Amino acid sequence: MYEIVYREDIAAKIHLFRIAAPAVARKAQPGQFVMVRASDHSERIPLTVADFDREAGTVTVVFMEVGHTTTEMAALRQGDYVQNFVGPLGNPTEIEKFGTVMVVGGGFGTATLLPVVRGMREAGNRVITVIGFRTKDLIFYEDKLRAASDELIVSTDDGSYGYKGVVTLPIKEMLESGRKIDRVIAVGPAIMMKFVSKTTEPFGVPTIVSLNPIMVDGTGMCGGCRVTVGGQTKFVCVDGPEFEGHLVDWDILFARQRLYLEEEKHALEEHECRLAKVK
Ligand code: FAD
Ligand code: FES
Ligand code: MG
Repeated sequence: MYEIVYREDIAAKIHLFRIAAPAVARKAQPGQFVMVRASDHSERIPLTVADFDREAGTVTVVFMEVGHTTTEMAALRQGDYVQNFVGPLGNPTEIEKFGTVMVVGGGFGTATLLPVVRGMREAGNRVITVIGFRTKDLIFYEDKLRAASDELIVSTDDGSYGYKGVVTLPIKEMLESGRKIDRVIAVGPAIMMKFVSKTTEPFGVPTIVSLNPIMVDGTGMCGGCRVTVGGQTKFVCVDGPEFEGHLVDWDILFARQRLYLEEEKHALEEHECRLAKVK
């Protein structure tokens, strides 16, 4: 059992758990993930390591309430426990001196950028962070990421704060202006990572994306996280989660993400029905 030593609701439906897990904290690196099981009857879900403190023995995860399991997890409070917290899994982000690195976040991905930004700066890179939200009220982590980055660009789809438009617009503008970007790293919804990759492709900027297919075991045994990258079959949990975005077959990823949509919907409806009875 792993204690939730700190909980914070950082935005609407986005929650942060700091979990006491010394063995995971000792080895965790930016870009890796953990498989979490809230209780002994829950499914396992993968969550990215959003931060870690080796001395305190804690690992931070941030999750968005999107369905049955994340809603179940959102009901847990500080001092409660999660049943399993396995990791770190997957390969760490490749951190070295590239020059100017652009780190892009959308949705829950924004909350996982800090260790990558810090690592890239420590390696001597200039880091431009770009984060996108639908509207001003949904913005989170702006101050933390501004303090950690050399430059921060915030965009909102409706123009209520910062740059008006989706994240790809400021990226395109910067590349068209002739600004030299040596590497882009994008973390967030698959659709956002696809369009970031499409934006950088004509400029030939290597673009690393953190893929999020459905995972079951997280250790390369079930085949659930199969994707196609550069015409080859890859298992995201052991070969990734990070890949060159220009080589990813996005249509296959989207199709596989939708595989259990009906079952997921039923699970959530059942959960809400049970909650209503309790109330
Ligand atoms: P459901 O209703 O079951 O599913 C909602 C959607 O989530 C599905 O349509 C599907 O696209 C996806 N999903 C469902 N089950 C899984 C599963 N077992 N594995 C992966 N995706 C699934 N989310 C965060 O909020 N924060 C993170 O840091 C984060 N990191 C991730 C890292 C990796 C490597 C991967 C693969 C996914 C990550 N996700 C993260 C996505 C997260 O795992 C899903 O949102 C979660 O499993 C949804 O569970 P649910 O039962 O609440 O929703
Ligand atoms: Fe089973 Fe990757 S999650 S092989
Ligand atoms: Mg689920």
